[in-house]
Amino acid sequence: MSFELKKVPVEELHKMIAAERYAFETPLQPIFRLYCPVTNNDPQETIADIAAREQEQAKNPDPNVENIWIKAVTSQDSKTTETLVGGAQWIFISEKSSSLDADVESFSKRHPEGGARLFAAQSYRILRECEERHRLEISGSGPYATLGSFFTLPEYRKLGIGHLLMQWGLEKADEKGLDIWIEAAPPAVPFYERHGFVQKEVTHLQPRRPDGLDEKIAAEWDDTARELLPITTVTMCRLAGTC
Ligand SMILES: CC(C)(COP(=O)(O)OP(=O)(O)OC[C@H]1O[C@@H](n2cnc3c(N)ncnc32)[C@H](O)[C@@H]1OP(=O)(O)O)[C@@H](O)C(=O)NCCC(=O)NCCS
Repeated sequence: MSFELKKVPVEELHKMIAAERYAFETPLQPIFRLYCPVTNNDPQETIADIAAREQEQAKNPDPNVENIWIKAVTSQDSKTTETLVGGAQWIFISEKSSSLDADVESFSKRHPEGGARLFAAQSYRILRECEERHRLEISGSGPYATLGSFFTLPEYRKLGIGHLLMQWGLEKADEKGLDIWIEAAPPAVPFYERHGFVQKEVTHLQPRRPDGLDEKIAAEWDDTARELLPITTVTMCRLAGTC
């Protein structure tokens, strides 16, 4: 079986988001539920919400951010139709136009208002601060690349599809002379290491519940922590031109 890569048109983003959810939940990567929570206990509604957000971004792009979804599909001939087998969201940032505070606020709105949102905001801030600290020290405040998503569907793993999706972004980052900074899920760390990424810090996420919360919000915080933790992520970087 052979595979090829294609850019994803806006109208297919919904399909990508659905595939991403399936890939990250088989088996579950705990960090995924922090980034993409299920809203109103309804996975379909969640997929539609996230796809709508991505479509909105695609229609009104930030001029400092090149946000490219690519898909891996089975190669076709005249008798077959393509099957989606994996995808990646490569993000090339020429200049960071939003502050960490703004990013945290916008991200945490994916979670319901109250204790869940507070928990998500603090968790996201911990992860972002860790990445930013290492990135500023090593790459400076200039342009860089990152991954918004990266997956192969479970039935097609270990066939080289991840390598194809990675190679595409590495070549583009190298052409632009960009370092790449990512938050990796632990099972994917060896894969990234084989592609020139090095570990900078391992974070066992342990957000601290603020003092003085009212009882209901404190209980929501505790429920969210019970549902999502433990989460471990690895901040990794690949310097431009590293093979
Ligand atoms: C991480 C992930 C994207 C890797 O995708 P993949 O398509 O399996 O990646 P590849 O096939 O290129 O490489 C994976 C392994 O298959 C091996 N492989 C590649 N082609 C092969 C082939 N034809 N035959 C046998 N093995 C092969 C690679 O050497 C590698 O082996 P290793 O893990 O023992 O070192 C995938 O496991 C995944 O989607 N995981 C869930 C989501 C996730 O964690 N994403 C990353 C979040 S940070």
